[in-house]
Amino acid sequence: MSTDTVFKAFVIHKDDQGFRSGIEHWRMDQLPDGDVTIRVQYSGVNYKDGLASIPEGKIVRRYPFIPGIDLAGTVVESLHPSFKEGDKVLCTGYELGVSHEGGYSQYARVKGDWLVPLPEGLSLKEAMGIGTAGFTAALSVASLLHSGVQPSDGPVLVTGATGGVGSFSISMMSKLGFEVVASTGKMAAQGDWLTTIGAHQVISREEAAQDSKGALAAEKWAAVIDPVGGPQLSGLLKHVKYGGAVALSGLTGGGNFAATVYPFILRGVKLLGIDSVYCPMSTRQEIWSKLAGEWKPDSALQSGIHVHYLNALPEILNDILSGKAIGRSVITLSDRSEAE
Ligand SMILES: NC(=O)c1ccc[n+]([C@@H]2O[C@H](COP(=O)([O-])OP(=O)(O)OC[C@H]3O[C@@H](n4cnc5c(N)ncnc54)[C@H](OP(=O)(O)O)[C@@H]3O)[C@@H](O)[C@H]2O)c1
Repeated sequence: MSTDTVFKAFVIHKDDQGFRSGIEHWRMDQLPDGDVTIRVQYSGVNYKDGLASIPEGKIVRRYPFIPGIDLAGTVVESLHPSFKEGDKVLCTGYELGVSHEGGYSQYARVKGDWLVPLPEGLSLKEAMGIGTAGFTAALSVASLLHSGVQPSDGPVLVTGATGGVGSFSISMMSKLGFEVVASTGKMAAQGDWLTTIGAHQVISREEAAQDSKGALAAEKWAAVIDPVGGPQLSGLLKHVKYGGAVALSGLTGGGNFAATVYPFILRGVKLLGIDSVYCPMSTRQEIWSKLAGEWKPDSALQSGIHVHYLNALPEILNDILSGKAIGRSVITLSDRSEAE
């Protein structure tokens, strides 16, 4: 590709003139080093992208910067032995959209070691519909299954149900035969949708977060998928059944929680940490292949994906930060004229 090729990107600046962002034209030689150059077709919107878009978000390490922690597209140049021109690939995590220019750009240059070949069974759009959020949901599911939780153990609670991690968790767990209870702050408006994607029951955030004075409470949940974290986790742990587990991936509800040792030492409850960013490549490929096959979250992909052009980003980033996001927003990097 010529270094003069000009393309569109969503760029954030933080300098003497303040903090600002918008669509700009960049040249190929402004992209960072990397051994694979990609024509990005789709990116996704995650909570972390929301944090990257605000000055106090503490995600982006240098400016000017192109955020976007997910991308999917076609290789246009490669010096990496595993990839060649024309290959369809996806990238999530690592330094993408944090210290290395990310997916809100028509072109990206990354390390080939970060790339996953698009698995058969998924389109580029579906891959970004799933994105980091769906991948994290699948890691949570894998972790619970590995801990021994089975559908016959009883109901599984999913918190932050209308969000990306939550909605994909519901879709996959119900497909795997689990009885899923969805906890949401949007019960009146989105309860029906949560049922459509696989929830057997929908409860309010307040009901899910009910705490008790004692160190333990009635055993309710065989497992919990929790992308919300924060103080409500204390109460959730007390309700996990004997031998059950909590897969903890997020902090939309806060970074701190208080706990005692009792759920762990009297009920053998397991608290499983989930990290999608530095997850090893072998696990990544295994999980993406499940996402394209037996675990494919069809219900969430069919009704939970909203596709937007790059110019809609500021509003979508704002919505995800204020907890208004429903399902997953996918950004198409096509020019409007190409897509129409
Ligand atoms: N560990 C990892 O590798 C990893 C990967 C991806 C994401 N994450 C983290 O996981 C979390 C969720 O990510 P996401 O992409 O699913 O975000 P999201 O789409 O914004 O979903 C978060 C959901 O949490 C609920 N929520 C929002 N504010 C809340 C509050 N104050 N108290 C309780 N619930 C609240 C809302 O669902 P309801 O209205 O339905 O309750 C919201 O839709 C984020 O903290 C993100 O950083 C971690």
